[in-house]
Amino acid sequence: MTSTENSADTVLSGMRPTGVLHLGHYHGALKNWAQLQNEHRCLFFVADWHALTTHYETPEVIRQHTLDTVIDWLAAGVDPKRATLFVQSRVLEHAELFLLLGMGTPLAWLERVPTYKDQIANLKDKDLLTYGFLGYPLLQAADILIYRARWVPVGADQVPHIEMSREIARRFNALYGRDAQIEAAAHLAAAKLPEGQRAQLQQLRRAADQDGELDKRDEARALIASTALSRAEKDALRAQLDGGRRTILREPEALLTPESRLPGLDGRKMSKSYGNSIAIREERAVVEHKVRRMPTDPARVRRSDPGDPQRCPVWQFHLAYSDDDTRAWVQRGCTSAGIGCIECKQPVIDSILREQQPMLERAQPYVDQPALVRDILDDGCERARAAARETMAEVRDAMGLRLD
Ligand code: TRP
Ligand code: SF4
Repeated sequence: MTSTENSADTVLSGMRPTGVLHLGHYHGALKNWAQLQNEHRCLFFVADWHALTTHYETPEVIRQHTLDTVIDWLAAGVDPKRATLFVQSRVLEHAELFLLLGMGTPLAWLERVPTYKDQIANLKDKDLLTYGFLGYPLLQAADILIYRARWVPVGADQVPHIEMSREIARRFNALYGRDAQIEAAAHLAAAKLPEGQRAQLQQLRRAADQDGELDKRDEARALIASTALSRAEKDALRAQLDGGRRTILREPEALLTPESRLPGLDGRKMSKSYGNSIAIREERAVVEHKVRRMPTDPARVRRSDPGDPQRCPVWQFHLAYSDDDTRAWVQRGCTSAGIGCIECKQPVIDSILREQQPMLERAQPYVDQPALVRDILDDGCERARAAARETMAEVRDAMGLRLD
């Protein structure tokens, strides 16, 4: 398999090792990963270098956090037989691509990424005016581009990073993908097309070039795919479409993960730092305790006061977990003071515990024998490295770094 073949449809995503994951991670990302692995070649990795960009003063936690993160992935149903699971810092090629991309990346691109100034302002207790933190999105671009990934499942906050990865790929191809033979080959291929198709392709290409209309480029690609030309001829036309350049690095696309419907226990976004989360592998008694302590509609001071589910975070949990009958029971019981809040919370507790049970079972062998996780990661790192090496051979070549 060449890398072009095996990456046609590659999905790649990474997560910083922040410790044990919570239900927000499960509903917001992992459930989606476990689905994607059935449909695509998937690579999922622990972004431990990224963790160090903000937590360079506390390296001692990274090891354990990496292990916990991967166990939670496995608990959530991410399957090492289907997806490749690895650790960023063990595929050194990411660092090499990061370094090389850094040569031509304008500083302004990095400084204007929205998360950059936001995080510096938000994390005041940390000195983030570092070279590493500025380079965060460039490292992320290297993570993605090195596998020529097509799809990057991420939350909305990460979309600017994917956009920047696209710009970086485009710039790389423009700088280093020059190829005089492409125009000639594309001409020969186009000459073989029936008149109508040739004219249509030319029109689409012009629209794509002049107006930067990405749709037109996609249409042109579809048209090329539908022709009766040979594979090499189609490649030549595609290369011409990409500006007469070889596509060394592929432009990835964000695969926006639908916003999780599950907020934190207090109604804000679920986050460990807010203290409003339930861990994927939370103990049963702790799940019960946490849900029982959830704030409810402040108007329900006494059991006899009617409430309004719209003002209650427990209702959000019913929306995520309960069926229509249960929801109707909540609506009726809450607004008429027919049920108490503890009663109302019980189906939520039951649903969370039910959802959790198979995850706990899947995690147990790995908790008992962390060596199993190590084996999975050894294997995944090796596979990732093989793919990364292929890309790097081309990158080095294109940048004049090969001697033979
Ligand atoms: N920045 C991502 C986050 O904080 C993690 C990440 C690092 C990532 N490299 C990546 C995600 C590559 C997708 C692809 O969530
Ligand atoms: Fe919230 Fe349910 Fe109590 Fe109503 S009855 S306030 S929805 S917990």
